[in-house]
Amino acid sequence: MPAHVWQARAVKSFGIDPAVHAYAVEHANPRGDVVSEQLAERTRERFGASAAMNIGGDQGRFLEAIVSISGARTVVEVGTFTGMSALWLARGLPAGGRLICFELVDTYLATAREAWEAAGVADRIEVRLGPAADGLAALPEEPHVDLAFIDADKAGYATYLDLLLPRVVDGGAILVDNVLWSGAVVDPDDTSTDTMAIRAFNDAVAQRDDCTAVVLTIGDGITLIRPRR
Ligand SMILES: C[S@@+](CC[C@H](N)C(=O)[O-])C[C@H]1O[C@@H](n2cnc3c(N)ncnc32)[C@H](O)[C@@H]1O
Repeated sequence: MPAHVWQARAVKSFGIDPAVHAYAVEHANPRGDVVSEQLAERTRERFGASAAMNIGGDQGRFLEAIVSISGARTVVEVGTFTGMSALWLARGLPAGGRLICFELVDTYLATAREAWEAAGVADRIEVRLGPAADGLAALPEEPHVDLAFIDADKAGYATYLDLLLPRVVDGGAILVDNVLWSGAVVDPDDTSTDTMAIRAFNDAVAQRDDCTAVVLTIGDGITLIRPRR
């Protein structure tokens, strides 16, 4: 997606009054987080408007909590950018747990590694560079992934889900980001490629009989999908 579009989407939660959203963010405990705030700042300095691709702190805390509550030990991320979501996912892992990140562009990863080192989670994270579809297809085919987070090219979402679903353990889950696309999914005049891809993905997920799904209105919308076997 071009940077200017992300700039237009530089909203970390939509459909909620900004003051109410700020109030919710301010009432997280602990309140601030130095490493993620520095990472957001460095990403803005180095990559400009593309920084809007970083997930927000409230979503990050949610991801950390889900990993921790679920007891996940093997987590997969599709779409890493400068490592914000990976930072939070890795924080939720127990000792010995691992996060495998798939990312196409290596330019972003030095910034990610700085933050992961600062947070003390770098040793839990492995990055696999290249098209995520190839990387996911190379993973063992049997169920072994406890949790996955999809946040890459929207046209690839359906493929990533198809590749991940058989690899996720019973009781595991796949979280898919940006499924409400700032509300564009319900705007009939929006026929942009990404909007159409997300709409088609959402429609397909709602009809599949090999998974259960719930759309959470956190951030830009996250669908929580669980295998149904
Ligand atoms: C929305 S950003 C990810 C943001 C990240 N999760 C965060 O919170 O900072 C999407 C990322 O997906 C990557 N990407 C796009 N197409 C990809 C592909 N085919 N395979 C792997 N990564 C891809 C982009 O390079 C970009 O870094």
